[in-house]
Amino acid sequence: MTALTLSTAGAATLRADALVVGVAKSGKALVVAPGAEAVDQAFDGKLAAVLETLGASGAEGEATKLPAPAGLKAPVVLAVGLGSAPEDGQGYDAEALRRAAGTAARTLTGAKKAAFALPIAGAEDAEAIAEGALLGAYAYTAYQDSKNGDARKPLAEVALLGAKPRDKAHKAAAERAQALTEEIKRARDLINMPPNDLTPAAFAAVAQAAGKEHGLKVQVLDEKALAKGGYGGILGVGVGSENPPRLVRIAYTHPEAEKTLALVGKGITYDSGGISLKPAGHNETMKCDMSGAAAVFAAVVAAARIGVPVNVTGWLALAENMPSGSATRPGDVLRMYSGKTVEVLNTDAEGRLVLADALTRASEEHPDAIVDVATLTGAMVLALGNRTFGIMANDDDYRTAIHEIAEEVGEQSWPMPLPADLRKGMDSPTADIANMGERMGGGLVAGLFLQEFVGEGITWAHLDIAGPAFHEGAPYGYTPKGGTGSAVRTLVKLAERTADGEV
Ligand code: BES
Ligand code: ZN
Ligand code: ZN
Repeated sequence: MTALTLSTAGAATLRADALVVGVAKSGKALVVAPGAEAVDQAFDGKLAAVLETLGASGAEGEATKLPAPAGLKAPVVLAVGLGSAPEDGQGYDAEALRRAAGTAARTLTGAKKAAFALPIAGAEDAEAIAEGALLGAYAYTAYQDSKNGDARKPLAEVALLGAKPRDKAHKAAAERAQALTEEIKRARDLINMPPNDLTPAAFAAVAQAAGKEHGLKVQVLDEKALAKGGYGGILGVGVGSENPPRLVRIAYTHPEAEKTLALVGKGITYDSGGISLKPAGHNETMKCDMSGAAAVFAAVVAAARIGVPVNVTGWLALAENMPSGSATRPGDVLRMYSGKTVEVLNTDAEGRLVLADALTRASEEHPDAIVDVATLTGAMVLALGNRTFGIMANDDDYRTAIHEIAEEVGEQSWPMPLPADLRKGMDSPTADIANMGERMGGGLVAGLFLQEFVGEGITWAHLDIAGPAFHEGAPYGYTPKGGTGSAVRTLVKLAERTADGEV
């Protein structure tokens, strides 16, 4: 894991492989952002001019490497774009800092140590830069032993200049960033792990090991226990696979907690679609269908490591959706954990089935709120694109609060409705409800289905992360190819706000 140090050393004197500075657009001109004054001095005050000559504009995503002049201990200066310079008296946007730091860390893959001389006006800026740099320093190389040369190793050490190790707020920010990003990277690793190795049982074993390490209570229901308990949704999805399903409960409790937040994650370790098989072209990335469970797992462990004074209970609904002679057929009726019956019209709408059981089970403990996270529908990707998750809820204020928290931590999201008129599309002639309804608004239909399994009077929100969970394009900012760890930052901040009594 990438180390993080806070350093009061001057930019000119610290030994590192590279010095990272920020540049921004100010009208048509390029300006060097605060924090890099000593670096600019080493260039005789001409750093901006040199960079402009090299074609830099200060745009977000831009990274320009140049050899360091005499007078700096680092051999290379890396200038990263921050976008538009803020108006007088205002600071840089936290997400611009996060992304620029991530771009820098990715550009410095293979390096040992980089000193970040980006603008830090307060602890929040230090935290954003640390988060971006640590999240950018990521590579999934577990299955590439032969290619694992130093050149592909993530940046090994991030030194934050201008962050003060003796300042309590700065130190806390660094510790939070380190714990949070390590858990986000744990989620990414799980998402990227091939589905022949990350089976439901393997995922449950990872949760058990993490529970031991961090003092969390972990309980696992295997297929026998699920059958005994009547978990018809989870079993119905998992029954076609050689790798049987699991329901994991992972609980973090704090002695001073006044509230309990329950998090429920969709954990389909592979979604082939089942008997309603997905066509070629739609299943290559379906190992990512456990991203919700990975986010929930990471958020619970991160909350524990940060010591948030709230109880957080994670529920991981783990199953593999496969076609076989024993698989659930379109037309089958499942009796769910809640007692409701569901006619399975499409076995590819499996996420809502495993989540339904987990939502009912989570409700039994009467938490103050339940938030589920799932790569639930292709419809949500059509609606919001690849970088934005949808938020639905049975409480408008709660939905707004989560949307604002997501914005604050730099995750793109958008509030979506749960229109009651879409419910009748799921009426079944045979069972209480069908697992599919109208095609139009499919993401909202899925949300309405889930709502039926949330206990009376419990505040609930549903995050459909099908778009942002897995990134197929070129890396940008701190976002790598593959698993992103979407929603973890939002969930951890939500736990903190729940502890503060603010939501
Ligand atoms: N796992 C998929 C949704 C998905 C799509 C996730 C794209 C990530 C990227 C889900 O289980 C699914 O297949 N949903 C169906 C539901 C339909 C059959 C009602 C869908 O969205 O097409
Ligand atoms: Zn599916
Ligand atoms: Zn799925």
